[in-house]
Amino acid sequence: ALIDKGNHRHFMQKEIYEQPVVVAQTLSSYLRTLEAKVALPDMEFDLGSVERVAIVACGTASYVGAIGKYWIEQLARVPVEVDVASEFRYREPVLGANTLGLVISQSGETADTLAALRHMKACGVTTAGIINVPTSSMAREVDLLLPTHAGPEIGVASTKAFTCQLAVMAALSANLARAKGRLSEAEEAELVSQLTEVPAAMNAALAHDAEIEGMAHTIAGARDVLYLGRGPDYPLALEGALKLKEISYIHAEGYAAGEMKHGPIALIDESVPVIVIAPSGPLFDKTVSNMQEVQARGGKVVLISDAEGLAQAGEGALATIEMPKVHPLIAPLVYAVPVQLLAYHVAVVKGTDVDQPRNLAKSVTVE
Ligand code: G6P
Repeated sequence: ALIDKGNHRHFMQKEIYEQPVVVAQTLSSYLRTLEAKVALPDMEFDLGSVERVAIVACGTASYVGAIGKYWIEQLARVPVEVDVASEFRYREPVLGANTLGLVISQSGETADTLAALRHMKACGVTTAGIINVPTSSMAREVDLLLPTHAGPEIGVASTKAFTCQLAVMAALSANLARAKGRLSEAEEAELVSQLTEVPAAMNAALAHDAEIEGMAHTIAGARDVLYLGRGPDYPLALEGALKLKEISYIHAEGYAAGEMKHGPIALIDESVPVIVIAPSGPLFDKTVSNMQEVQARGGKVVLISDAEGLAQAGEGALATIEMPKVHPLIAPLVYAVPVQLLAYHVAVVKGTDVDQPRNLAKSVTVE
C-alpha cells in the first residue's frame, strides 16, 4: 500500500515519529537558512498593513491558533483573537479593514472552519490558511495559502499536522514582525537558527519514548488527569488534555498553571496525575510554585522540562521527562512530542482503538 504503518503498531505512532522529517520539510519552505531569513509565498497584499489577526480553527488546529496568539503578539505586537470555528460566525465578530483572517486546518474541509472562512471573505477580509491538504476547499478559497508539508495524516488524533502547523505559524509570526518593523536582522537570524534546531530537538524528545511508555501504566489507572502550562505552553496543555481524552477516554483538563488555584485545585488528591509543561525560562519559577501547590495536596506530578528546570524542581515529582534546551517561545513544537507519546501509550495500555477512537471522525464535514 502507498500509505502503510511501516514498522509501527499504529498510524498515530508512525506519525509521531515522522515529525522531525515533516517539520524539517515544512520549515525548509519557509526559512532561507543561508540568508538567515524567514519567507512566505508571494502574496497580493502588504503584510505590513495588517493591524489585527483573527484566527479560526477547530480542535487541535485551534490550539495552534492559541499558541500563535502568543507568538504574533509578542513578536509583531499585532493584536490577535482566536475563535473555535463553531462559535465564530454566530457571535457576529467585528471584522475591520486591515484584519487578516487566518484559518488553520489539516483537512481543509472541516465544515465550521470552511463556513468561517467564507464568512470572513463575505465581510471583505483578506484571508490566509495554514492547510495540509493542498487540493482542499479551504486551500482553494484562501487568498494566501500557507501549506504544511506533513503528508497524509491517517490517525484521527492529529499529531504531525499540529507541529507542522506550528512551524508555519512561527514563520508567519516572524514575517509579520519583520513587516511591522519589529524584528531586527539579528533577531530574525536568531529565530531562524532556533527553528532550524527544532527537528533535532524533536529527535531528542523521541528518545524518551520508552520512559514515557513506562509512565503510561500509572496514568492509565487515573480517572482524571490535569495538564498545566503557562504562556505558549498553556494551549499545549489544552492539546495534551484533548489528546488524552480523544484516544484513552480518560477525563483530562488543560489549565493555565496560574489559574488552577481558582478551581481545579479542588480536584487534586493522590489519585490525580498532573502533567506540568515547563521549559526553563522567564515563566518557570511561577509554574513551579503552582506545581508545588499540587504537590502539597498529594498530587502526582509529571514534570516535563529541560535539564536546568529538572535540576531546580524535579525532586518530588512522580516522574520527569527531560527535553533538550530550546528557546521558551518555540518550546511547544518540541514539548508536543512527549505530550503526544504519553497519550499514545496510555491509550495502548487501555487497549482502545488508537487510530479510530469511538465517536470521532478525521474530518468533520457537518456543523
Ligand atoms: C476533527 C479531528 C481533530 C482535528 C479537527 C480539526 O475533530 O478529530 O483531530 O483537530 O477535526 O480538523 P482539521 O482538518 O480542520 O484540522
